[in-house]
Amino acid sequence: MTAHDETTPAVEVRGVSRHFDGGGHTVYAVRDVSLTVAPGELLAIVGRSGSGKTTLLNLIAGLDRPDDGSVYLDGHDITVASEGYLTALRRNHIGFVFQSFGLLPLLSAAENIALALRIAGASGRDEAQRTRELLELVGLSARAGHRPYELSGGEQQRVAVARAMANRPRLLIADEPTGELDTVTGAQIFGLLQQAAREGVTIVMATHDPLIMDYADRFVEMADGRLVGSGEIRGALHRG
Ligand SMILES: Nc1ncnc2c1ncn2[C@@H]1O[C@H](COP(=O)(O)OP(=O)(O)O)[C@@H](O)[C@H]1O
Ligand SMILES: [Mg+2]
Repeated sequence: MTAHDETTPAVEVRGVSRHFDGGGHTVYAVRDVSLTVAPGELLAIVGRSGSGKTTLLNLIAGLDRPDDGSVYLDGHDITVASEGYLTALRRNHIGFVFQSFGLLPLLSAAENIALALRIAGASGRDEAQRTRELLELVGLSARAGHRPYELSGGEQQRVAVARAMANRPRLLIADEPTGELDTVTGAQIFGLLQQAAREGVTIVMATHDPLIMDYADRFVEMADGRLVGSGEIRGALHRG
């Protein structure tokens, strides 16, 4: 993932399929999906539960390999990459945000972020400075020393967004990031992600939260593993 210009899509999914053994029958989780995402674009993947959103995100992030088709990140075919390459790619270039926050319960907000920085290879000095910046970015400077159980769901997810941004990812994958949040805190999380996209981070997000229509640039809809629709949405009007 070294090439980085405006003409190369940040993400290109070409004819990708993935099936699973569903215990006696085959589940076609993703069927012949193709899409591209431009650098700095916020793409929402919408669709009901079971439509294949998480499977597609896993394929885009190199957490899983397709049975057919290819995934290109910044022009590089990751479906033929080694496990070592994919591990380094995820560590250095991709951020993840999940529905369930995924913070380490015994570490404070700041320590959760600092740990991510250390894993990404930051030095001790950079680590403290960057942790402060990231906490400020998500509006949690005053909560730095709190552990997850002392934070609201929205605050925990903001820590998770800060952690996902720790390695300055070029690509951020978010899977139902507002699934456990109320409307107001969900909007704050979408706002943070939109801001990251404005600053050049490419974001691919699975959600069935209708609020996303105020924040994403574009959406694709999945049903039974296929892309069944797409459209430009309102977020795009606010760009630039
Ligand atoms: N590892 C797996 N083994 C078997 N079936 C799976 C596996 N992962 C996903 N599936 C199935 O693939 C389909 C799509 O799942 P998923 O991608 O999780 O959808 P969504 O995220 O849209 O809810 C579902 O029918 C699900 O049960
Ligand atoms: Mg899912």
